[in-house]
Formats: sequence, structure tokens, C-alpha cells
Amino acid sequence: MPDARDTTLAFYAQEADAYAEWSGQDRDSENLETFMGLLGRGAHVLELGCGGGHDSRRLLDRGFEVLPTDGSPEMARQAERRLGRPVRVMRFMELDVEAAFDGVWANASLLHAPRAELAAILQRVHRALRSGGVFFSSFKEGDEEGSDSLGRHFNFPSIDWLREQFEQVAWTRLDMERRSSNGYDGIGVSLITVWARR
Ligand SMILES: C[S@@+](CC[C@H](N)C(=O)[O-])C[C@H]1O[C@@H](n2cnc3c(N)ncnc32)[C@H](O)[C@@H]1O
Repeated sequence: MPDARDTTLAFYAQEADAYAEWSGQDRDSENLETFMGLLGRGAHVLELGCGGGHDSRRLLDRGFEVLPTDGSPEMARQAERRLGRPVRVMRFMELDVEAAFDGVWANASLLHAPRAELAAILQRVHRALRSGGVFFSSFKEGDEEGSDSLGRHFNFPSIDWLREQFEQVAWTRLDMERRSSNGYDGIGVSLITVWARR
């Protein structure tokens, strides 16, 4: 059976151009504005799964030091075009730094992490943050991991399950909210947004 991570990244490889274009339209920047407001001037930000690079663009334009990353080389190339700088090709599980960032931004990206890996990834994010660092991530709510009609893998967590994964790490603050949104497959979804502080 193909690995869920590979089929998801194969989807983004094939759709890189169209996805980068679609995801730049009518972008809701409320969470990103909140995130930037929580960081100090010139703070260092890691973006996980940056896609077309729209959020990294905004962060750079506001004077933050940004390391944009994505697990798909094709998406990374899309972001490089938008950002005019190198984007690191890195899968979530390859994150391996200590106290290097003031903020980690993972909009609609960790929702693709297999359930069995999520707690370990959160551990890596926690380690990558400096004390007091801010972490934003968002997930499509559900009750069982699986694929969408486009073949992408999602962990589809409930709020309770997600909280259990986050609570395996000692965050000093953890807040979760629900929002409604639309996916690339055109289907309305309930998004769980998670704010955590190291
Ligand atoms: C739904 S898109 C979101 C992109 C961007 N954050 C945005 O808000 O437009 C998910 C992104 O996560 C990336 N991704 C999926 N699985 C990944 C993995 N295992 N490691 C790193 N990135 C991954 C995809 O290539 C894609 O760019």
C-alpha cells in the first residue's frame, strides 16, 4: 500500500501551479495578523508546509526573518518564485533544531501528518521554539484519519484527540478554536485552529 505521506506529496507535486494560484485568492489573514502581533520586531519564524508561499511573503514584507519550508519540491519552487529566495524542502519529521525560532507558522499543513506521527512532530516544533515562542497550526475536524476525494491524506482529528496530542508536550499555553472554511476540493469544512506557547 502506498505511504500516505507520499500520495499527499504526489498530489501537491502534480497540482503545485494550480494550488499556489488558488490558495492566493481571497486569503483570510486574520490568524496571521494575530500571529505577527504576538511576535517581537524582526522575530525569527519557521513556516512548515508553506505551499505557494503567500504567508511567508506577508511575514517577510512585515520585516520578520523567515525560513519557509515545504515537503514538496514542486510547491517549494512555487514559493521560491513568489519569495525570490530559496525555500527549504523539508518534511515535518525532518525538523531537527533547538531553540532556533520565536514563532512557528503551520497553516493547513500539519493536517496532512499521519496520526501516528503528529505527537512526535509537535515535540520537534516545541524543541525548535525558544522559550515563550508562539506556534500556530490548523486542522480539518473529523473523527477518523483518511483521504479526501483528491487522494490527499488528512488526520481529521476531533478537538479531544488533538488536545491529547498537544498535551504530550509541556506548552505553557494552549488554546483551540473552531472556524468554518472551504477546502481545495470545494467542500466546506470545520477547521480547528491551535495556538500554543512554549
Ligand atoms: C493545504 S496546503 C497549505 C499550504 C500553505 N500553508 C497555505 O496555507 O496555503 C499543505 C502543504 O503542506 C505540504 N505538506 C504535505 N505533507 C507534508 C509533509 N509531510 N512535510 C512537509 N510539508 C508537507 C504540502 O506540500 C502543501 O504545500
